Amino acid sequence: MTAEYQVHGAVAVITLNNPPVNGMGLATRTAAVNGIQRALADDAVKAIVITGAGKAFSGGADIKEFNTPKALAEPSLHTFIATAEGSTKPVVAAIHTVCMGGGLELSLGCHYRVAMPGAQIALPEVKLGLLPGAGGTQRLPRVLGLEPALNMIVSGNPVLSEKLPALFDEIFAADADLLQTAVAFAEKIADVRPLPKVRDRKVDYPNHEAFLQFSRNTVKAMSGPFPAPLECVETVAASVTMKFDDGMKFERERFLHLIQTTESKALRHAFFAERVASKVPDVPADTPVRPIKSAAIIGAGTMGGGIAMNFLNAGIPVKLLETRQEALDKGIATIRKNYENTLKKGKLTQEKLDQRMGLLSSTLSYDEIGQADIVVEAVFEEIGVKEAVFRKLDEVMKPGAILATNTSTLDVDKIASFTRRPQDVIGTHFFSPANVMKLLEIVRGKATAKDVLATALALSKKLKKTGVVSGVCDGFIGNRMIEQYSRQAGFLLEEGALPEQIDKAAEKFGFAMGPFRMGDLAGNDIGWAIRKRRYVEKPEISYSKTADLLCEMGRYGQKTGAGWYDYKAGDRKAYPNDDVNAMIVKHSADLGITRRKISDQEIVERLVYALVNEGALILEEGIALRASDIDMVYLTGYGFPLYRGGPMFYADTVGLPNVLAAINKYARGHEGKAWQPAPLLQKLASEGKNFNS
Ligand code: 3HC
Ligand code: NAI
Repeated sequence: MTAEYQVHGAVAVITLNNPPVNGMGLATRTAAVNGIQRALADDAVKAIVITGAGKAFSGGADIKEFNTPKALAEPSLHTFIATAEGSTKPVVAAIHTVCMGGGLELSLGCHYRVAMPGAQIALPEVKLGLLPGAGGTQRLPRVLGLEPALNMIVSGNPVLSEKLPALFDEIFAADADLLQTAVAFAEKIADVRPLPKVRDRKVDYPNHEAFLQFSRNTVKAMSGPFPAPLECVETVAASVTMKFDDGMKFERERFLHLIQTTESKALRHAFFAERVASKVPDVPADTPVRPIKSAAIIGAGTMGGGIAMNFLNAGIPVKLLETRQEALDKGIATIRKNYENTLKKGKLTQEKLDQRMGLLSSTLSYDEIGQADIVVEAVFEEIGVKEAVFRKLDEVMKPGAILATNTSTLDVDKIASFTRRPQDVIGTHFFSPANVMKLLEIVRGKATAKDVLATALALSKKLKKTGVVSGVCDGFIGNRMIEQYSRQAGFLLEEGALPEQIDKAAEKFGFAMGPFRMGDLAGNDIGWAIRKRRYVEKPEISYSKTADLLCEMGRYGQKTGAGWYDYKAGDRKAYPNDDVNAMIVKHSADLGITRRKISDQEIVERLVYALVNEGALILEEGIALRASDIDMVYLTGYGFPLYRGGPMFYADTVGLPNVLAAINKYARGHEGKAWQPAPLLQKLASEGKNFNS
């Protein structure tokens, strides 16, 4: 049973019970419809209450059943709602905590709605690339009015129940017993006839066409490649322009269209990918976590400051440690300045700013950080410096403290070996700017204890990050893949493309920034330093020398005012530079390459398939637990377009045999040895399978 049936006096209570959020899957719908029929057949029952068990009234349709036969099987959500609405005995929705999507649509089909204050009410379907498909677009405007309903449907954002008095017949006191009070309400209205039905109401909005046209224009301008927001406007428009049943038919048709779109599939993939990323097969959900009530950060530079802000924002006191007072002062001043900028934008109050800065203290002495629950090291990326820091931390930190490193390329196992407690060492790889970027790669060392990993995952939630677990390898998931992408970008320059064309093609595909604008932002000298190391350690790997030549010109990127492009003070716009382009063309000539015109399609395929191929290796080696984790890394850390669902999901939509065929083609071209098709890609392609299945 996924809905329970009980009788309280003259009132039947149907409790949706499908943890975690009472998604209305087939079994729940069946049990609930049976419950209504049972109540109708029982003469002693005068009214029906529908509520939800546990931590939700209902989170809506069961998204896990989408694209399975169960989604459309009878009783459908429509049938369930129509059964409630058509009941000859009054049906009361008793709402608490979460009432979203199909859950709200069900309640709109009920004759009455009562709620606890503080319940989150939403039609969030648009966030999954959908529109409310079970009457929400037709019934909500009839209850709230056209404008507020349209805003809720197009934004998908939750509104607290007490802010929606028009939606509810009664909002109970905060300390009320929901079930008892709802049953009393049902008894009170049991004999009232006719039964009120939302479908019988009309949407009154004088001059609605002007408002709808304004909404279309605004939404079109804001929704980019996503079709759902505009479809939401069109279906809500039908609540004014069409009869109820016609509007319902129109809504159904548009919903069924949207559910098949790649954009919606990508958004639903990302929804589940984000949640599954926090699950590690051999670390059960009930693994105890270590309390994190205080933190120490070593190094107050670019990353240390941003990392500190994450802890401060979460209300966790931070002690910053540096070698020099000036470095500390500079780091703290930067943190304050960042907060002040947020204050100026009206996104932070002075009180909150003071609170956060009040949680920050600093020191030059390791003696003062020993009691911190976690210490995050963010010093220079040199193994010798890391060694000195970790040996010291091993001496001073209390037993059980977590020792985390923010290294972006170094071996976490080696860092752990500098301590006598490798089980407490873990990588927490934040992305720059660390106070903004959502991604946190959590690097699990060979010896990292399970409770340390579980604590890091829980901490990522507390810091409002998307935590993704990576094994130890050079570059972890994200940077290891981006290296192959950057190599292709370099080879494309040698063959005939210029930075601007490559960036534009990548940005048209949907990347927030093309590879060269990204290089200019991050600093081209960082990649240069890494390549210099690689030339010695892994001479077999080839790179285009153009990026080295650029650095030799002193063009490190935005920080030097010049990189692949020129920059003007106070302006982030990138202006192509003739000298850089001449350097690129000359380099092709030096290599004896006749430059050719390269299509945007080739550019995008080579950049993206380079990610996919390396992603497949990473998956096969077990560095990433699942393809969707790789997608999360790219969606939250590298500006990969959300509507394409991440590189691995995108490859699935292209078809793995097509991806493989393209890789084989490029393997016959310039620097073709960079393309060694990953065995996993070959295997899945030959079996007709996907990365995410
Ligand atoms: N169906 C199935 N599972 C759902 C679900 C749903 N509608 N909503 C959430 N879940 C699952 C999550 O996958 C997660 O599962 P897990 O524990 O196995 O990982 C679990 O519920 C908890 O989710 P969160 O981690 O997000 O928990 P929170 O407490 O932070 O948030 C929530 C709860 C506010 C309900 C949030 O999960 C949410 O926003 N869910 C999406 C709601 C939604 O989009 N509903 C519309 C569905 S589409 C629809 O109804 C179509 C209709 O119009 C026809
Ligand atoms: P940074 O140079 O801006 O800051 C390093 C800080 O550490 C400096 O303030 C320095 O004074 C301090 N420091 C050096 N040695 C120290 C010691 N022994 N004890 C205490 N403090 C010491 O460097 P950044 O960019 O913040 O990088 C830090 C770490 O984060 C590196 O491991 C880097 O690879 C990694 N990282 C950097 C990213 C970036 O985009 N900058 C992104 C992700 C990770």
